[in-house]
Amino acid sequence: MRKIVIDTDPGIDDAIAILLALSAREELELLALTTVSGNADIDKVTKNACKVLELAEREDIPVYKGCHKPLMRERIEGDDFHGDDGLGNVHLADPVKKEEEESAVDFLIQKAHEEKGKLTLVPIGPLTNIAQAIRRDPEFVECIEEVVIMGGAENGGNMSPHAEFNFWSDPEAAKLVFQAGFKKVTMIGLDATGWVFLSPTLRELLYLINTPVSRFMHDITRVYADDHWKIEKKLGCELCDVLTTAYLLDPSVVETVDAFVDVETSGLCDGASVVYRTLYYPDKTQNCTVAVKADTKKFYEIFFGYLFPDYKDIALNMM
Ligand code: RIB
Ligand code: CA
Repeated sequence: MRKIVIDTDPGIDDAIAILLALSAREELELLALTTVSGNADIDKVTKNACKVLELAEREDIPVYKGCHKPLMRERIEGDDFHGDDGLGNVHLADPVKKEEEESAVDFLIQKAHEEKGKLTLVPIGPLTNIAQAIRRDPEFVECIEEVVIMGGAENGGNMSPHAEFNFWSDPEAAKLVFQAGFKKVTMIGLDATGWVFLSPTLRELLYLINTPVSRFMHDITRVYADDHWKIEKKLGCELCDVLTTAYLLDPSVVETVDAFVDVETSGLCDGASVVYRTLYYPDKTQNCTVAVKADTKKFYEIFFGYLFPDYKDIALNMM
């Protein structure tokens, strides 16, 4: 059983990543959600985190509210790529569940010391909370077993030709995280997440499975799919954050390379992750492994196998 904290800005794909993690009750112990502004403002993403836990009937899991703005910049008001409610405009009822009094950064530091070396952080939004914990507590890094990040890219970007949203939102935080010296960092960026698209066929299957969770996933991805079509003329939507959860359940779902990663914090390529594969740049000291490809079929085997096991074979036969 792996103890994890998901640091998140729900967010359509965040919500699905959290639901997949909750479905793997034998493999993952989700200790808490910590929220960070990104896809929507901090109040909205915190409320959305509570909504997702209520939908999953896991109100027992605490939510800790995090940073409302990047480490050293003003927050750029996100466009409504995730809907004006941050969850695909499904406008779930306001949650009864409330976030804890303690801040996300205070919680992360306290829990890191409590779990000393047995805690995996799974940041799937901007890295502001993680960076603040590093700055606040010199022992924080040593206490963490692994950091599995959705963010960055070896090639490409989605906020500029070279910058991915989570790193673009707070480049200074991302830079600090890669410099911090964590024991194990796995970066799951766009090179890998581009292989995990929810096709219209599989999205329709979610509708037909007809459970509260499957219908929620179907409904919140409508806006996401519309935007993918509008911007990229691609059918379906990229399940970026969900690949981090699939990696936790089966690391062989991605192909990785050893690398040294640094993040640009100014200029034309602001927010870009520069990936030096140590095979090609032996003078660079490895600080992470980078996922450079994902096995689409294996991803959906995990996704449907944990969430909707009765439909796994049907889903795989549709691919
Ligand atoms: O670039 C993808 C990332 O940006 C994901 O975390 C998604 O939720 C958006 O925030
Ligand atoms: Ca996210």
